[in-house]
Amino acid sequence: MDTSHSVEVVGSSTQTVRCADDQRLLDAFLRNGVYLPNSCNQGTCGTCKVKVLCGTVDAPPPSDTVLSPEEQTNGFVLACQSTPRSDTRIEVPLDAASGPGHLLRDVAGIVSGIESVADDTVTVTVDLDQPLEYSAGQYVEFTVPGTDEVRQYSMANPPGDGGSLEFHIRRVDGGLATDRWIFDSLEHGHSIAIRGPWGDFVHDPDHDGPIILLGGGTGLAPLKAIALQALELDSAREVHLYHGVRTRGDLYDVDFWQSLAARHPGMRYTPCLSREDGFGRRGYVGDVLVEDFDSLRGYSAYLCGPPAMVDAGVKACKRRRMAGRLIRREKYTPVAAAVPA
Ligand code: FES
Repeated sequence: MDTSHSVEVVGSSTQTVRCADDQRLLDAFLRNGVYLPNSCNQGTCGTCKVKVLCGTVDAPPPSDTVLSPEEQTNGFVLACQSTPRSDTRIEVPLDAASGPGHLLRDVAGIVSGIESVADDTVTVTVDLDQPLEYSAGQYVEFTVPGTDEVRQYSMANPPGDGGSLEFHIRRVDGGLATDRWIFDSLEHGHSIAIRGPWGDFVHDPDHDGPIILLGGGTGLAPLKAIALQALELDSAREVHLYHGVRTRGDLYDVDFWQSLAARHPGMRYTPCLSREDGFGRRGYVGDVLVEDFDSLRGYSAYLCGPPAMVDAGVKACKRRRMAGRLIRREKYTPVAAAVPA
């Protein structure tokens, strides 16, 4: 028996995809080349909002802060949370087609390296059974073995590294994926089920001005991919990285960034410690940025890390007159906090 439904997607053009009974709309769209803006894939950001024109979809009730009561009454749903229950017709934003546009795929990876690089932080290198197309800044999902749970990790290397992906992973106290898997038993040679790429926090190759990168903790990962790609396109590009952590023990990749800055005249690396002196700068990345620049007109920014760091960083960029449209952000939201009420 066919347990899939036909979904007509109406936007700047009209396309039809099949979506299985247990498949989310966003998954079906991205797998079939229908690009829709998306970010968290957890129902918390509202980026994947679409309107159901006819038919029925099932979804957990969204939070009112993600979809207003009025939007819910008017048929808006989150594509990353909704599964069709009948043939449906869905309206997507007219500009939805502009985005990274890589096909969503399931691939298998083998761990080829795992290294402790800072307090409670490891880098994991995974070799894929087939190359995965993605844009610098995007992420994939790992399936936690023995469960249906997934965890999201950004690629720290730009695409084109011969099918190898680098991830930065910080231990979460009691975390299903970290305490009970990655930091407990994951070893060289183990396999990982990977789905991706996801997200539209990506390097914009059309903006060729100077770049500010603000990262908190392992929010450094996608910024590393973005910096490497930007410098590959223009080795003299002005790129300022501010990496914020609490203590020196939390800092990692210091040699890598210092060596990159030594090789590229426009690259500046500024580690920022919020809880101690003695290395780099003392303070939060947004505050240090404001100290360093009188004006950020003409700059673009990429921010990734905990929500409070990202919000403060956006304010800092705007305070120094950076155009809002040139500020891209990705919030690392803990999974427990991401479950819709
Ligand atoms: Fe669907 Fe964030 S991508 S709510």
